[in-house]
Amino acid sequence: MSTTPAARLYRPTPRNLALLARVLAEGGLVAAPTETVYGLAADALNAKACRAIFRAKGRPASDPLIVHVDSIEQADEVAVLNDAARKLAKLFWPGPLTLVLPKRAGVPDIVTSGLPSVAVRLPSHQLFRELIRRSGCPLAAPSANPFGYVSPTTAAHVRDGLGKRIGHILDGGSAKIGVESTILDLRDPRHPVLLRPGAVSREAMARVLGRKITIHRRIVPTATAAIAPGLLERHYSPRTPLTLVDKITPALVRSAGSNHALLFMQKPAQVNANTFWLCEAPNAFDQAAHNLFDRLRTLDNGAWSHIHAELAPGSDALALAVNDRLRRAAAKR
Ligand code: TXA
Ligand code: MG
Repeated sequence: MSTTPAARLYRPTPRNLALLARVLAEGGLVAAPTETVYGLAADALNAKACRAIFRAKGRPASDPLIVHVDSIEQADEVAVLNDAARKLAKLFWPGPLTLVLPKRAGVPDIVTSGLPSVAVRLPSHQLFRELIRRSGCPLAAPSANPFGYVSPTTAAHVRDGLGKRIGHILDGGSAKIGVESTILDLRDPRHPVLLRPGAVSREAMARVLGRKITIHRRIVPTATAAIAPGLLERHYSPRTPLTLVDKITPALVRSAGSNHALLFMQKPAQVNANTFWLCEAPNAFDQAAHNLFDRLRTLDNGAWSHIHAELAPGSDALALAVNDRLRRAAAKR
């Protein structure tokens, strides 16, 4: 039996950052905050280190990782950037945008699940970037949660899920955005495809590229060599059954049992013991995104037998991202 590490939380002091960067440079795993969610990082060019990510998460090898870099030059070392990628990078990096591009030879197969493409992003979180700089490695990092469960937005979330499987967690407070990056497939720059909605909107990218961006059709969980296994129908899932509605009506409030939790988008006028919400102000989707995963975890850890959640109205980028995560969380097993 291998020894089970008990995760330690590290405050972001210069000394701890140096220590954690050394862990990464030596092939270890470190969970650390990004502006979207917490990631479970390893040296992206070290196949053995990256295999350990899959083991810790219980993630199937068919689900490729995102490689995080600290500069365009470093992105050039792992991916082949076309003009479209450079345009988007110039505008949206550092930030919550991941680009899928042809990969360079140095990126191990385990990172890309054997695909000839690689997903790359330059995050804006200063602590995460400092780990990349200090370790000298591009960092492969999926969300730091057991495969299929709700993504982590705090160090405590990471410890709850992976505390027995990893040794090091950098505590940088709660992740600002709260939902994962937008993923754009740019392998063919003439036909960009949105693989996952996030804070960077499809419209904004389409404007920059001067092209239409199509949306990838959901792929079913049985898909093999999937183009973006993160598009698995069921993902981000609480254990408690979750049903989605466009609007929580007074009739639903009356008919729901007291052991049913009601998750409103916006705080309702009347608040009961089973009333929860994602934001205070109307259409504050940044707040809703920031709160979403924490709220789902809290409800999942409560004694609720069922969760009814409201979808976000409109077509704001974060509203679409919130709805995407809610739909996957609610998808049947
Ligand atoms: O915001 C984020 O993107 C966070 C933080 C930590 O950066 N990371 C994240 O990673 O959400 P993960 O592993 O949970 O989701 C990455 C998604 C996966 O669904 C995977 O299928 C997709 O990226 N992906 C990775 N490489 C790909 C490739 N070569 N082609 C298509 N999709 C790819
Ligand atoms: Mg994930």
